[in-house]
Amino acid sequence: MTEIRRIAVNTGGGDAPGLNAVIRAVVLAAERLGWEVFGITDSYDGLLREDQLVRLDRKAVRGITHLGGTILGTTNRGNPLKYPVTDASGRVTFVDRSQDVVDALTRHRIDALIAIGGDGSLDIAHQLSKKGVNVVGVPKTIDNDLAATELTFGFTTAVETATDAIDKLHSTAEAHERVMVVELMGRNAGWIALHAGLAGTADVILIPEIPYHLDVVCEKIERRYADGRNFAIVVVAEGAYAVGGEPLFKQTRDGQQRLGGMAEVVAREINEGTGRETRELVLGHLQRGGGPNAYDRLLALRFGAAAVRLVQEGAFGTMVALDPPDVIGVPLGDAIARLKTVPVDGDEVRTARAMGICLGD
Ligand code: F6P
Repeated sequence: MTEIRRIAVNTGGGDAPGLNAVIRAVVLAAERLGWEVFGITDSYDGLLREDQLVRLDRKAVRGITHLGGTILGTTNRGNPLKYPVTDASGRVTFVDRSQDVVDALTRHRIDALIAIGGDGSLDIAHQLSKKGVNVVGVPKTIDNDLAATELTFGFTTAVETATDAIDKLHSTAEAHERVMVVELMGRNAGWIALHAGLAGTADVILIPEIPYHLDVVCEKIERRYADGRNFAIVVVAEGAYAVGGEPLFKQTRDGQQRLGGMAEVVAREINEGTGRETRELVLGHLQRGGGPNAYDRLLALRFGAAAVRLVQEGAFGTMVALDPPDVIGVPLGDAIARLKTVPVDGDEVRTARAMGICLGD
């Protein structure tokens, strides 16, 4: 078994509340075993651009458990397998620089890497593992769409932020007798929308797993107004779409395609279908901002400590996963094989139906 003396840790992809708690847990648990810990900044960019690591000791991770963001920085544009290179004419091409990562880790005498990230970052970790790097992954995403783990940290904090927003929308919706349509994150999974919509008592929740019929949504709103409730709250997952339609993407300024724009579409459709005044709101990155709630802090600390345990056991090519009541190791390959979407006959969906919430079908 590899003798561990020096390990590295990085955070990749979009941030999620709890990243700093994982980093702190990794450092503290590793120090107790006498290992040195180094951080790679901005996913793998710190290694690829400057060939540099940052020493992380107990002092460096003091007081960060409750902080949002990541002290290491992150990016969703620095994939070493498809690394963007800009030539003199400004043309961007993509090259595989994974071997450069492997070489840099060897040069810095790193015995194991703890890679914290979502499906994209875990795929990179899996490829590095195939190239012989001793990797343990830690799942992170507010979307909660990784199949191998019951939960990812950051999700419940995002749901709280979204629920708080829905709560606040109620009073302004009621004051103006409007239909407020709020778009929530989650990519192609409706977890955030469904959980926040239920907790925030939305009237309509549209998720990608259940394509919606506009007339069903409009009927629900009309029924509500007929019942004397002169406002309505509609929650739309960013990946939701109508029956026969498809998810909506927006071209961003950096030339990438991102899901988004459904709140505007649904608000317009409801206005046209019912004549009611509508307004839309895209909650966006607020859902990723701020510190983790107590649950996500605890989950993140457990994941960090478990990742160090897996490194100690030599269980490489794995990812930590919540398998209640335990945190276990699962093969990275299995972890990225399938996304976890909302089961349409699952308990949350059944609860929503029992509450009379319209799911658009
Ligand atoms: O995966 C997390 C997430 O916040 C998604 O819910 C959202 O679609 C995406 O990231 C936004 O990414 P970016 O940080 O590139 O705007």
